[in-house]
Amino acid sequence: MTDYKIAPSILSADFARLGEEVDAVLNAGADMVHFDVMDNHYVPNLTFGPVICKALRNYGVEAPIDVHLMVNPVDELIISFAKAGATYISFHPEATENVDQAIQLIKDQGCKPGLAINPETSLNCLENCLKNIDLIIMMSVNPGFAAQSFIPEVLQKLERARELITQCEKEVLLEIDGGVKVNNIQEIASHGADVFVSGSGIFGTENYQETIDQMRQELSVL
Ligand code: DX5
Ligand code: ZN
Repeated sequence: MTDYKIAPSILSADFARLGEEVDAVLNAGADMVHFDVMDNHYVPNLTFGPVICKALRNYGVEAPIDVHLMVNPVDELIISFAKAGATYISFHPEATENVDQAIQLIKDQGCKPGLAINPETSLNCLENCLKNIDLIIMMSVNPGFAAQSFIPEVLQKLERARELITQCEKEVLLEIDGGVKVNNIQEIASHGADVFVSGSGIFGTENYQETIDQMRQELSVL
């Protein structure tokens, strides 16, 4: 049976109460914290940096922190996020000149590397790198904003990525990011995803426990 993981994106949390919000989703059964870093350069939005990640660790958050860098360049922030307690660090391959070097940098800093693939980006970049990474973030919206609609064409890419992971015989998490809700999580899982980022789909609901329970219920029939 697949070990499905739910990763709430704190982009849709109440930032004035961030520690409590993260505790609430973890207590409700979330597996990891998805941390969307935007720089108003690679994407047209600006969010938060390493000090916030460090603040969550200092607050007592022990769950894996899944840092999704939507920034250009990536190298300096990789080092800062590793020092701030990140577990996974993922970046977009088009945001750096040397993808292999950035992957190696993440490993050297003691973190797990991931690559984030935009809806329009081909999977070719995975062919050389798959053996060296622990996570693929398959974007099902264009990066930059929470609460966009899931792009259904990405389901096919998800299947292909799952095939590549199987062929590679390495344990690589296949995370879907963007527009994931209770009502589509089952279909997405059936196309090969095993980690589900959900921002507005969790933080936008009244009762996080109920929402995460419903997501697990949807996944349990697969
Ligand atoms: C988009 C981010 C996503 C997104 C998730 O650029 O990478 O993590 O905010 O939010 P929802 O689940 O609301 O689409
Ligand atoms: Zn993300």
